[in-house]
Amino acid sequence: MASILVLNGPNLGRLGSREPDVYGSGTLAELRAELDREVPSDHVIDLRQTNDEAELIGWLYEAVDTASPVILNPAAFTHYSYALRDAAALVTKAGLILVEVHLSNPHAREEFRHTSVISGVATGVIAGFGFDSYLLALDLIKRRS
Ligand code: DQA
Repeated sequence: MASILVLNGPNLGRLGSREPDVYGSGTLAELRAELDREVPSDHVIDLRQTNDEAELIGWLYEAVDTASPVILNPAAFTHYSYALRDAAALVTKAGLILVEVHLSNPHAREEFRHTSVISGVATGVIAGFGFDSYLLALDLIKRRS
C-alpha cells in the first residue's frame, strides 16, 4: 500500500516532555494516532523520527524511490542544513509533494529560527498550529492526490 512519509528531525522524539509550552504535551505516538485516523484507506502513515541528518537524507531518497509524498518537520535542521535542503529538492523536483511543517511558528520566536533553508525547495509550508500543522499537511496531500 502507498505510504505517506511523515519525517521528523532532531529532538522531536522528546515531544510531550520537551518544552510543552512551545510544542504542546502530545507525544509522537499520539500524533501518529491522529494522522492514522485521517489517512485515506488506500494509504498508510509511515511516521519516523531521527536525530541523525544522514538518516533523514536517506529517508528523502526513499521518498523519491518509492514516489511517496512527504510531510517533513526538519526541526533545527530547518535553519542550517543545506544537505537536507538538497535532498528535499530531489523530492519536489521528482514531482512529489513535500510539505514543510512546524509545530510552533518559528517567525514568532528567536531570530535564528526566522530562516528556513528548506522552504525554498518545499512545495509549501504550514507552521504554528501544533499537531494541526501535520493534519493540515495531510489534508493538502489528500486534496492533491
Ligand atoms: C520546530 C521549530 C524549530 O525551530 C525547532 O528547532 C524544532 C521544532 C517546530 O516544529 O516548531 O525542533 O521545527
